[in-house]
Amino acid sequence: MIILGLESSCDETAAALLRCEPGQPVSVLASEIATQHELHAEYGGVVPEIASRAHAERFLPTIRRALTNADLSLREVDAIAVGHRPGLIGSLLVGVSMAKSLAWSLGIPLVGVDHVRAHLYAPMLTNPEITWPAIGLVVSGGHSSIYRMSTPSDLERIGSTIDDAVGEAFDKVAAMLSLGHPGGPLLEQLASKGDPDAFEFPISRLSPKSLDFSFSGLKTAVLYEIKGRPAPRPIPGKPPIERPEVSELTDQRRADIAASFQQAAGKAIVIKLKRALARHPETRTLLVGGGVAANAGIRSWLEQLAARAGVALKLSAPEYCGDNAAMIAGLGGAMLISDGRSAQGMSLTPMPTSAS
Ligand code: KG4
Ligand code: ZN
Repeated sequence: MIILGLESSCDETAAALLRCEPGQPVSVLASEIATQHELHAEYGGVVPEIASRAHAERFLPTIRRALTNADLSLREVDAIAVGHRPGLIGSLLVGVSMAKSLAWSLGIPLVGVDHVRAHLYAPMLTNPEITWPAIGLVVSGGHSSIYRMSTPSDLERIGSTIDDAVGEAFDKVAAMLSLGHPGGPLLEQLASKGDPDAFEFPISRLSPKSLDFSFSGLKTAVLYEIKGRPAPRPIPGKPPIERPEVSELTDQRRADIAASFQQAAGKAIVIKLKRALARHPETRTLLVGGGVAANAGIRSWLEQLAARAGVALKLSAPEYCGDNAAMIAGLGGAMLISDGRSAQGMSLTPMPTSAS
């Protein structure tokens, strides 16, 4: 079965072609991504209206490129999978409309895929043998969540962020350091020149048993380190309290801040995963996906954690960490084949929120 995957939840227009056979590892025949970063860079973040328009312009050329690279024609596609939740509603509408038009005109099944669950499926594109049960971690620009998983589609969320997603914190700290957009990869580059122990930024643990994340305190601590603390309110009858001077933001200080932030964010992730693994000792595998999983420092801290905990670590390959359509097609194919799920067809609707 050849599956065409389509992805348009945020600022990447993506199309992929996968071959899925029951009992066989999937093979990615083509995975094309048309990024819109250049359109949003001047605004320092994704502008939803610009994103939707760009998806509408870029979908057909992206699908054509995927077909050419896979040496296939549209007629050879057996089913379509589309990321239909969560995401920017205008962007999702473009993808779902494209998927419905193609499925209707070709007379083939259409299946809607949850984008966050697809990030958890991404490690399986390159590691087909998974020993269940697993703990799944999604770390992206919109999500930081931990899941207990029995199969790719039988999962329960056991922790999530109570404020910023970790990728969002990377992007905001990158903006404070005047790096470009998206900030995560640029911050990682800068961090490689810095000392991760130069600053002791706070690592949120929340309550001792919590599996939730919080990154807003870390982000504020970095802001104070760069710009100084807000001036204390004067107390009537007392001399004004001096504001500590802010050190000059030299290149080395910027790199040290980036490295110390990255280490604190990584430690926060590892602490919560350690708790999740201790609470679920039957876990055999740790599955990790999402844009932030491309970060080499975070990958190596996760490797150390998995080795100490005695679980297999299955990280998404770097090319499948960020938004892509191969993960959508892969999970869509698994839903259609292994789970015997019926296709939703023309009744499929985009949703801004995740199913889990
Ligand atoms: O999964 P993704 O492409 O989109 C969402 O579903 O949100 O993740 C994008 C996020 C952005 O915040 C981006 O800055 C971050 O992943 N990111 C990174 C790295 N590469 C991408 N963060 C840290 N280090 C990286 N190397
Ligand atoms: Zn994503």
